[in-house]
Amino acid sequence: MLNFTFRNPTKILFGKNRIEEINKEIPAGSKVLITYGGGSIKSTGTLAKVKKALSGFELSEFGGIEPNPSYETLMKCVEQIKATPVDFILAVGGGSVIDGTKFIAAATLYSGDPWEILTSFGSKIKEALPFATILTLPATGSEMNSGAVITNRALHAKLPFGSPLLYPVFSVLDPEVTYTLPDSQISNGVVDAFVHVTEQYLTYPVDAKVQDRFAEGLLLTLIEDGPKALLDRENYEVRSNLMWSATMALNGLIGSGTPQDWATHMIGHEITALHGVDHARTLAIVLPSLLKVRKLEKKEKLLQYGERIWGITEGSEDERIDLAIKKTGDFFKSMGIGIKLSDYGILAEDIQTIVGQLKDHGMVKLGEKKDITPEVVEQILKLSV
Ligand code: NZQ
Ligand code: ZN
Repeated sequence: MLNFTFRNPTKILFGKNRIEEINKEIPAGSKVLITYGGGSIKSTGTLAKVKKALSGFELSEFGGIEPNPSYETLMKCVEQIKATPVDFILAVGGGSVIDGTKFIAAATLYSGDPWEILTSFGSKIKEALPFATILTLPATGSEMNSGAVITNRALHAKLPFGSPLLYPVFSVLDPEVTYTLPDSQISNGVVDAFVHVTEQYLTYPVDAKVQDRFAEGLLLTLIEDGPKALLDRENYEVRSNLMWSATMALNGLIGSGTPQDWATHMIGHEITALHGVDHARTLAIVLPSLLKVRKLEKKEKLLQYGERIWGITEGSEDERIDLAIKKTGDFFKSMGIGIKLSDYGILAEDIQTIVGQLKDHGMVKLGEKKDITPEVVEQILKLSV
C-alpha cells in the first residue's frame, strides 16, 4: 500500500426528510445564498423545502448554473456576492451546481484574476466561503470531496481544480429527492460513479486489500442496483444504495494508498468541452478502449476485476481480460449509454482536435504511470470510433 493522508471533514445527513434539519447546521444569523441550476429544484419542490427549513435566515438566490458549469455564469454570481455579501452558500443540485459553488466560494475571496484558480488547479486558493450541499443527483461525489470541474466556454476548456478548503461543511443525501431524475441522468450517475471507482482500482496491484474490496463492493452495487433504478423508479432502497455508492466512489477513501489513473476523465473532459456530450457518456466512450490499449499495464488488476466483479475464471489471461472489458461496455449499454464516438455524432476526423486540446492543457502524461501520451490517446480514441 502507498503512503497516504486521509481527512474528510464533510458531515453527511443521509435519509428521508433530512433537509428539515439544516437550520441546525448553519450558524444562526447567517446570510445564506442558495445556488441552483436550471430550475429542476423549483418544479420538484426541493427549493420550497429548503426555504421552509431556513425560514429564520436571511436568504438570497442565484440560479441558472448550467450542466458543465461555465466560468462566465459563475463570475456573475461572484459579482452578485461582491455587491451583496453573504456568509454561507447552500448549493442545491447535482455535480454542476456543487462544482460551480466551489468555484464561487473560492473566487469571491480571491484577490487576483479568478481564472488563475483553474490554471493553478486550485493551488493558489488561500481562502473560501463556507458552503454546504443538498444533493439532487448521485453521480460525481462532489458533495463529499474538494474537487470541481469548470468550463470556459470561450476557450472550449474544461478544467479540474481542487483545494482542501473546498470540502462542503455538510451534505444532505435524501434518496427520495432523486425520484424525479429522468432515466438519462440516473444512467449518467451510475456510469460516472462506476468509472470513478475504476480510475482508482484498475491500475496495478499494491496489495491494498481494504481499498480493493471497498471498490469491488461499490462496483457490484452499481451493477446490481443501477438497472433496477430504471425499472422500479421509486424504490427507496435502490436509490439509497446508488446514492451512497456514488458518494463513496469519490470521497477519497478508496483512492487512499492506491495508484490512480484519471486518464479516462481527462480525455472525457475534452470531448465534453468540444462536443457537449454529457460527462458520464464521455467516460463510457473512453474507458473500454482505454482498458483495451492498456491491457498489459493493467493485466493483474483486470484479471482480478474479471474474476471478482464478472465471475470470469475460465480461458486464457487474454480471453478473460477481453471478456471483462466487453462486459464493462455491455453494462454501460444496458444502462442506455452508447459507448462509441459515433453514437454521439463524433467522427474519426474529430480525434485530432480532441488530442490537440489535451496537449494545449498540458495533459500529455496521463495514467497511473504517466505514460498515456497524446499518441496513446489517439490510439484509444480510434478504437472508440
Ligand atoms: O439544472 P437543473 O434544472 O437542476 O437540472 C439538472 C441538470 O439538467 C438535472 N437534475 C439534477 N437533479 C435533478 C435533476 N432533474 C430532476 N430531478 C432531480 N433531482 O440533471 C441535469 C444534470 O445535472 P448535473 O449537475 O450537470 O449532473 P452531474 O451531477 O452528473 O454533474 C456533472 C458535472 O460534474 C462534473 C462533471 O464534469 C460535470 O461538469 N464532475 C465533478 C466531479 C467532482 N466535483 O468531483 C467529478 C466528476 O468526475 C465530474 O467530472
Ligand atoms: Zn466523473
